[in-house]
Amino acid sequence: VRTPVTVTVTGAAGNIGYALLFRIASGALLGSDTPVRLNLLEIPQAVKAAEGTAMELNDSAFPLLESVNVYDGIDDAFDGTNVALLVGARPRTKGMERADLLEANGGIFGPQGKAINDRAADDVKVLVVGNPANTNAVIAMHSAPDVPKSRFTAMMRLDHNRAISQLAAKTGAPVADIKKMTVWGNHSADQYPDVSYATVAGKPASELVDAEWLESFFVPTVAKRGAAIIEARGASSAASAASAAIDHVYNWVNGVPEGDWVTPGVYQDGSHYGVPEGLIFGMPATAENGEWVVVDGLEVSDRTRAGIEHNIKAAQEELDAVRALGLIK
Ligand code: NAI
Repeated sequence: VRTPVTVTVTGAAGNIGYALLFRIASGALLGSDTPVRLNLLEIPQAVKAAEGTAMELNDSAFPLLESVNVYDGIDDAFDGTNVALLVGARPRTKGMERADLLEANGGIFGPQGKAINDRAADDVKVLVVGNPANTNAVIAMHSAPDVPKSRFTAMMRLDHNRAISQLAAKTGAPVADIKKMTVWGNHSADQYPDVSYATVAGKPASELVDAEWLESFFVPTVAKRGAAIIEARGASSAASAASAAIDHVYNWVNGVPEGDWVTPGVYQDGSHYGVPEGLIFGMPATAENGEWVVVDGLEVSDRTRAGIEHNIKAAQEELDAVRALGLIK
């Protein structure tokens, strides 16, 4: 048995939180030999609901769950945190301007980044799920100057998993046969899901599907899946988002199987695929010793290039708006 890991989940009383916490406590996040200490952070109005979830976590008698604590203040919630899952965010309400949305989220992710900077463990790993995830991750990163930038990531894994699911359905292959899927860019409708390097039971996916299907069905279906789920469920993706968060952190901590890669939104130092320094951007990666390693040197088609450029532009526009609001320098 390894040393216990402290995991902080924000928005713990929300829909994703409810689907996420029980899987963390079961050992799915870190591995079945790692005990977990859970810190649940909520806003004061939702603390009671989070306490109810904590009661249920205790009632599940998970052998790996060492403790559950509920917080309504950010500093103590991040004390000694090894893994921070930033799920709680301000949703866009009808008629809300982008600037207002960004400002409200800046007011959440800025202070949380600072608390992580001041209180979290030296090895802290941060996954931002709350939307707009890529931009919120940059805001948190800017408030945490003492934490290596590479520890701030944004969730692209749900998009990655959705892309695998669509390709599996199209080719009739089990999802386990699909390797090397990639989703470039942002967790938004701008994203570019890309099968250029994907294989299906060892065969290049590009030999099994045609360009017409990719362009007119695959890309828009994956990019707009979130809206389709809302339309069908009457609520946004929650269990699949929680599952993707589990996958992201599990691979970050434990590595990615040989012969495959996954898609995290990772900090850009300006050396990968022409993406400018300072963005947090989805691209193919493996992980070694608890650090993401971008898969470099792939040949990029004109179509993929256009997808990457489109996402750079969208991400930069959003960061310009954040900068104009004074949320980052
Ligand atoms: P939800 O509305 O059910 O829950 C959000 C929870 O966050 C609420 O309980 C709320 O009280 C809490 N919260 C709000 N501000 C907080 C703060 N400052 N500190 C702590 N907690 C706070 O929403 P749901 O369905 O759980 O989704 C959460 C976020 O995840 C949303 O922003 C959603 O857009 C995003 N999301 C991201 C995905 C991705 O792939 N990156 C996929 C699906 C959802």
